[in-house]
Amino acid sequence: MSDTADSKELVLDEVRKYHRETAPDREFVPGVTEIWPSGAVLDEEDRVALVEAALTMRIAAGPSSKKFESAFAKRLKRRKAHLTNSGSSANLLAVTALMSHQREDRRLKPGDEVVTVAAGFPTTVNPILQNGLLPVFVDVDLSTYNTTADRVAAAIGPKTRAIIIAHALGNPFEVAEVAQLAKDNDLVLIEDNCDAVGSTYDGQITGTFGDLTTVSFYPAHHLTMGEGGCVLTSDLGLARIVESLRDWGRDCWCEPGKNNTCFKRFEYQMGNLPAGYDHKYIFSHVGYNLKGTDIQAALGLTQLTKLDGFIEARRRNWRRLREGLDGVPGLLLPEPTPRSEPSWFGFVITVDPEAPFTRAELVAYLEERKIGTRRLFAGNLTRQPAYIDQPHRVVGDLTNSDIITEHTFWVGVYPGLTDEMLDYVTATIKEFVAQRG
Ligand SMILES: Cc1ncc(COP(=O)(O)O)c(C=O)c1O
Repeated sequence: MSDTADSKELVLDEVRKYHRETAPDREFVPGVTEIWPSGAVLDEEDRVALVEAALTMRIAAGPSSKKFESAFAKRLKRRKAHLTNSGSSANLLAVTALMSHQREDRRLKPGDEVVTVAAGFPTTVNPILQNGLLPVFVDVDLSTYNTTADRVAAAIGPKTRAIIIAHALGNPFEVAEVAQLAKDNDLVLIEDNCDAVGSTYDGQITGTFGDLTTVSFYPAHHLTMGEGGCVLTSDLGLARIVESLRDWGRDCWCEPGKNNTCFKRFEYQMGNLPAGYDHKYIFSHVGYNLKGTDIQAALGLTQLTKLDGFIEARRRNWRRLREGLDGVPGLLLPEPTPRSEPSWFGFVITVDPEAPFTRAELVAYLEERKIGTRRLFAGNLTRQPAYIDQPHRVVGDLTNSDIITEHTFWVGVYPGLTDEMLDYVTATIKEFVAQRG
């Protein structure tokens, strides 16, 4: 071994030692130890990968990013994956790609309509507005927290050009039926798969039904890079557009640090530029810089090796809560969408509006006992201050989105939770309901 390799191994051995020495005390003290709704699950291998990435000092996107993109594309059964700096950026790229002049007559134009769901995460919807498109909101069902193909069908009108819907907290929407609707009506389908990596519908993994799919690697999600996201597609034309928009809008597709991949670097004539203008500096889109880095990707690669275990733990934890809480009065418990096997993000509970207690009281009781709770994100987005004056259309009513806004919350199922913690969550909820029932 060379001296450099030797000293690298020495550093990494010290990192392993450091990891073991600083491992947090895992003793669970009910009511004292915080039970987070979500969090990153990082081990020794992840710490080593991060330090190893730092040792190379490859601080921008490079070989690890490429490696992650091809491994993740393979895992999600898409031809191309593009790493981004967040799931929100991934959604922005997916929607913006539909506006590209390179899509010719399939290009979306400002004012075109995009069907989406009112109760969800804001950055599923924001790219619609950011591109001058019109969101058309539909309601969701309670208990699955997803919309239905029937509601989507009712929202399709002459100006509808696309659909973007998230699989709610890991629970797939009726994605096969919605994909069929998209096909029949010549619409593009984007699956926001940020909360659902590993979920299946009809035995097929989510993210493989639509034209484009997006993933988030924020710590709450199934895999983490700290911050990060990904756009995936099997449409090579869309993939090129996504890459261009992500990488400043450039026309060239050379990887960072590479030149002349196309062997014609000085032979292009585009726009009003002089012939032979360096292709590296030809911009065919009004783009962004939304790239990830190799340090993020290095963590993504070690996280990816643990994905199956993470998914299984999320399912196991969800089942434990579901069985433990079954039959508790005053609570509407979550249900998987028929024909699906969710890779759960959280455990959603709606307090029956007729119950002798309120969500606020139950949430306060849990939070006082260190059980973290979250909302179903924005609730009915049309009631949020940012959206009240934004142009939109609503098809049907948003009754259930309003119920979610007023009565719904979720607790965690992420792999960092133990059976003891989950049983404490169940016992605490039951204790509260028994006192108030
Ligand atoms: C459904 C959904 N889409 C998009 C995002 C945005 O991802 P990010 O936080 O990586 O920007 C989130 C975030 O949690 C989400 O839950």
